[in-house]
Amino acid sequence: MPPPPNSSMSIKPREKTTALNPRSSKVVEPIKCNRLWTIDNALCPLGVLWMADGMKLPMKKGLGATDRVDDWWTGPTAMAAYLGIMILYSTWRGFMEADFWIFEEFGRSAGNQTMAIESEGSHVLSPLFSPLILPGEQSWLPTQFHWMSPAMFILIFPAGFRATCYYYRKAYYRAFLQQPTGCAVSVPWNEYAGETKLLLVQNLHRYFLYAALAYLPILSFDVWLSMNFHLDGEHSLGISIGTLVLALNVILLGGYTFGCHAFRHLVGGNSNDWSGSALGRLRYRLWSFSTNFNEQHKNWALYSLFWVMFADFYVYACTDPLFGWTDIVLWGGL
Ligand code: FES
Repeated sequence: MPPPPNSSMSIKPREKTTALNPRSSKVVEPIKCNRLWTIDNALCPLGVLWMADGMKLPMKKGLGATDRVDDWWTGPTAMAAYLGIMILYSTWRGFMEADFWIFEEFGRSAGNQTMAIESEGSHVLSPLFSPLILPGEQSWLPTQFHWMSPAMFILIFPAGFRATCYYYRKAYYRAFLQQPTGCAVSVPWNEYAGETKLLLVQNLHRYFLYAALAYLPILSFDVWLSMNFHLDGEHSLGISIGTLVLALNVILLGGYTFGCHAFRHLVGGNSNDWSGSALGRLRYRLWSFSTNFNEQHKNWALYSLFWVMFADFYVYACTDPLFGWTDIVLWGGL
């Protein structure tokens, strides 16, 4: 019995078709999919939707205008709020430990550093300030840079890694730039033209990956440091809540970094043979390992970002009398 004419089963397999957009002389190629509508984002701003057979459907024009009946705006709005809070918080913390202008009134320049918990004899360093770079006579950075917060020296690498991440690009293109706002949702300006011109800078992602890989051992070393308690010449091992917070941070960042598309390509790409040699088989195993994380890259991206900020907030709250938190030692210590 033949399938009903309007069901998705009636759509033929994907085939290349072309249709002439009557508003321009360009030949366009609608994208076929398993649904009844073929939605070509490049055509949305022109006011049309194209069906699988090349027929156009009228589309509303204007900011956010659409015929969609689902809550298409909730995802980009929530993402804008989430990323906005994270960006504001990290910027505030980066400047809070600086030593110029109004920031002299906060942090170490006001006599209360909030970058690391030292009160219990351990050293629980916030990931936003690791590795801790302090200009001065003992440092390779001259004292002229004393006004800069340690975060200002290093945050460009994790920030660049996330800003050029394939997942975050999609998220903030939609959340902040409205390019595109969403499938079949209109915007009054030019259509999304892809990552061209200035956006070619996104290709730096693989280089930010190398920096991000270097961060993992540094942050792991911070976990180790937080387990070493020193007080009045005595030394002991121990575990505090801060240790666990830093350890979970390394795990989440590891899942995010090892699932990176560029990392997956680095370990398994550019190869036609994964079985003919020991190196090929090793690359296959590494690629599979990375793929496991890559399948949940969005979750790793969002949770790891939250936890970096929370880890910093934990250190902040344990060092600033405003909050009055204490880093409780769960085992060992002094
Ligand atoms: S693609 Fe997201 S971190 Fe590389």
